[in-house]
Amino acid sequence: LMQTLLKNSNEPPVVFHWFPIIGSTITYGMDPPRFFVENRAKYGDVFTFVLLGRKTTVCLGPAGNDFVLNGKIRDVNAEEIYTVLTTPVFGRDVVYDCPNSKLMEQKKFMKIALTTEAFRQYVPIISDEVTSYFKRTADFKGQLGEVSIPPKMAEITIFTASHALQGKAIRDQFDESLAALYHDLDMGFSPINFTFHWAPLPWNNRRDHAQRTVAKLYMETIKRRRANPELDAQDMMFHLMNSTYKNGVQVPDHEIAHMMIALLMAGQHSSSSTSSWIMLLLASRPDIMEDLYQEQINALGPDLPPLQYEDLAKLPLHGAIVKETLRLHAPIHSIMRAVKQPLHVPGTKFVIPTNHVLMSAPGVSASDPVFFPKPDLWDPHRWLPDSPNAPSLSRAPAGEDEEKIDYGYGLVSKGAASPYLPFGAGRHRCIGEQFANVQLQTIIVEVVRLFKFRNVDSSNKVIGTDYASLFSRPLEPAVIHWERREQA
Ligand code: HEM
Repeated sequence: LMQTLLKNSNEPPVVFHWFPIIGSTITYGMDPPRFFVENRAKYGDVFTFVLLGRKTTVCLGPAGNDFVLNGKIRDVNAEEIYTVLTTPVFGRDVVYDCPNSKLMEQKKFMKIALTTEAFRQYVPIISDEVTSYFKRTADFKGQLGEVSIPPKMAEITIFTASHALQGKAIRDQFDESLAALYHDLDMGFSPINFTFHWAPLPWNNRRDHAQRTVAKLYMETIKRRRANPELDAQDMMFHLMNSTYKNGVQVPDHEIAHMMIALLMAGQHSSSSTSSWIMLLLASRPDIMEDLYQEQINALGPDLPPLQYEDLAKLPLHGAIVKETLRLHAPIHSIMRAVKQPLHVPGTKFVIPTNHVLMSAPGVSASDPVFFPKPDLWDPHRWLPDSPNAPSLSRAPAGEDEEKIDYGYGLVSKGAASPYLPFGAGRHRCIGEQFANVQLQTIIVEVVRLFKFRNVDSSNKVIGTDYASLFSRPLEPAVIHWERREQA
């Protein structure tokens, strides 16, 4: 007993709860950011709560972000947590269904298709997809109207991402069967699947059928492309088809197919939710939408020529819109790791035992007044020079000369003690950040050229967040009022 008492005295404080298994599942699940902030006020930056029967220890603040996300491979493990959800959706032998060293190589292969040279080709593709979407979609016929924006942004995201990353042939199938299949795959990402991923529930059967069908389609495409190399474009599939693991083995076709699914799924939810937030926030602040229009005219000229990749760098407010939206509405609110050996939390007396799940929530520091004046205010201008609300990121890794490390997929910042990490950090850091920025900024440019948005009641209100799926997103319906800038 004495031993247990001694051991437990070093464990972090546990959030009070009435029922053993349920614990804090409901209060956390309803609004994770609020749950974190309220309990941080009571217990400090490091505390434990019971989530679906598992003791989950969250480490907040820049130091907590660094501790979890830069955890050593012998200390923390992502695949043990995520594999039950992701393997049925992506398929075998990729991402979390393989050792971490293999994932690092796969991330390196996928990154090859995400270079500046590739982005130069993607910008016109994305621009065309956006403009043609608004031309042909019934909800945007005429001069003005009202529409719930998230389903529209979900479609625009899948059309732009699939066309840019997977090529025209695959993109065209999204008008038909592929959209429904990806929808079924999506069902695999409901939180309930953390517990019931194995169950013969109807949506799990549909998920498994969709995974097999989509993977088969990619594998047939790969075969066709191998047979006709002269047809090949230098796209994601091409690069994966020409990649070889360090042990000399060429990436097998089924792994290419599964990586293609993983890439589209990884990008879809986060980009779609972010672009929906952007449009809703612009509707709540028509003045900022006008600032964007003026920025384009000043930087690119009054006749607004077709957008090029190089133009994006001339539009800092457009970039700041993405940054500021991700500060307040990062789609991934909780990042989890299994604990592989008892972990001492630096600067505290706490030791986290191996039966706990470790959790990081960088969104908490991203809305902390210590780092961001008026933290709840969506103020894109704060990222531009001379703003009174400029972030104080003095504790963040600084600039070009910061120390970098290579986990196998290219250099990333060594320290993760930053309050602003919407793309994560460390060996599991996002490889899609630049693509997401290019995609989101291009969508903003085209939407601002076409429309003026406002809230239906012309207020500055912003809709609440839906935390019921694993990725947070706006509650629906989220209706905005749109008006064309020019006569349709
Ligand atoms: C990982 C955020 C877009 C591919 C991550 C992680 C975060 C994140 C927080 C770390 C997860 C963890 O540590 O467990 C975002 C956001 C996006 C975005 C906010 C858009 C606004 C994309 C896109 C792609 C992508 C467009 C693909 C083209 C990936 C991949 C990983 C990742 C492959 C690595 C997973 C791992 O190593 O475990 N992302 N992401 N993401 N993301 Fe993204």
